[in-house]
Amino acid sequence: MSQSSLLLLLFHPDLSRSRANRVLVEAVRGLPGVKVHDVYTASSGNRINVAEEQALLVAHPLIVFQHPFYWYSGPALMKEWMDRVLEQGFAFPPGVGDRLRGKRWLSVVTTGGAEDAYRSGGFNNYTMSELLRPFQQTANLCGMSWLPPFVVHGVLPPGIEGFRNISDEELHRRGEAYRQLLAGLIAEGA
Ligand SMILES: Cc1cc2nc3c(=O)[nH]c(=O)nc-3n(C[C@H](O)[C@H](O)[C@H](O)COP(=O)(O)O)c2cc1C
Repeated sequence: MSQSSLLLLLFHPDLSRSRANRVLVEAVRGLPGVKVHDVYTASSGNRINVAEEQALLVAHPLIVFQHPFYWYSGPALMKEWMDRVLEQGFAFPPGVGDRLRGKRWLSVVTTGGAEDAYRSGGFNNYTMSELLRPFQQTANLCGMSWLPPFVVHGVLPPGIEGFRNISDEELHRRGEAYRQLLAGLIAEGA
């Protein structure tokens, strides 16, 4: 039986070069009730241990999927993880693969694009809520409830000029807001 109620699945291919995801994960690491699981580190060479990943999911009622937005989705290993871990008979179909039913899914996403780029007519044409639908519907099919996503916008790599880049202070404020969000969800009973 796990001591933690919240499983934070971190998908970042190189955390040593991360700006946003590193700040966010450090803001919540050590929060009582939170288990951080770095999937890239745990699955080096794409060797995902499906049984271990499934056992972690089963042991936690609230699952956080934290990742940078890559091509309007998650990094490649996140897709591989979904394809292999959310397998038939475990995560679906309803009434058969019910191991995730009743759990909650929180997507925590960092983007290079600014908030106003994610709207109809904006640089990226669609809202985050529209672009995250494949994750939302995955949660639905697994019988999980979808929480409002926590998004940090405008985190650009060095060398991209002409776009607003989030300041370190603002990034740390978002980290604090993230910590408060998770603490609140845990207090609700995750
Ligand atoms: C392969 C790749 C694809 C990306 N695709 C997008 C994208 O579709 N939309 C976007 O806003 N930013 C995109 N970005 C920017 C990243 O989302 C941004 O650098 C990241 O969220 C910053 O987080 P980090 O500092 O933890 O790496 C992409 C970056 C890379 C490397």
